[in-house]
Amino acid sequence: MNTIKISASILSANFAELGNQIKETETAGCDWLHIDVMDGVFVPNISMGPFIVKTCKKITTLPLDVHLMISHPENHIDAFIEAGASTLSIHVENNPNVLRAIQYIQSKNVRAGLVLNPGTPASAIESLLPFVDQVLVMTVNPGFSGQVFIPEMLSKISSVYNMIKNGAHPADLQVDGGINSETLPKVLKAGANIIVAATAIYGHPQGIQAGLNAMRETIALNKNRDIIAAISE
Ligand code: DX5
Ligand code: ZN
Repeated sequence: MNTIKISASILSANFAELGNQIKETETAGCDWLHIDVMDGVFVPNISMGPFIVKTCKKITTLPLDVHLMISHPENHIDAFIEAGASTLSIHVENNPNVLRAIQYIQSKNVRAGLVLNPGTPASAIESLLPFVDQVLVMTVNPGFSGQVFIPEMLSKISSVYNMIKNGAHPADLQVDGGINSETLPKVLKAGANIIVAATAIYGHPQGIQAGLNAMRETIALNKNRDIIAAISE
């Protein structure tokens, strides 16, 4: 079983205090930092680019988990790797040469992830599973933090979990979107092991440390969970 990790999405951080917020995230014992890159074309929002990744790299030693929500991600892989990405995840949608991009990322000694939008079935990545370091199942429509978890995605998480379990190649299973104290036990039960959260951490009324503590407590309670083979809401 892969270890459970929390990846804090800075999309909901206070950017006027970004340096301090990232340091606080690290001190609070977070595992990874998740950086959401949006181009206003692939998703209806524009966010951060390689410059922010480079800035994060100067501030923290946390691994930088970069989620590319952009058209033609292959044109920008080098820039994000040079900026310091530890993992680069690209969407499978509208990407006929996705395996070439995955292999290129790995040739640079960076972890490569494949991302599934809510409308994309688990089967879309089945033949690519032997090649990837992680699969990210989106549990909201990509583009914004603070959205409501889509419960129908639980069965897809289970399907991907089973594909990974039954295959020869271990990959991490990440979830992203609408994770809170209510939805976290469900995604753990479905087999997710890398948990992305923005609002639950940066929007916690008692601050970053409290948000991470709450997630850690939920994870501890569900650690010895039985993963349900075919889960549905
Ligand atoms: C959405 C992003 C997420 C987002 C999650 O497109 O990929 O990483 O920041 O935000 P929450 O945890 O608030 O749903
Ligand atoms: Zn993300």
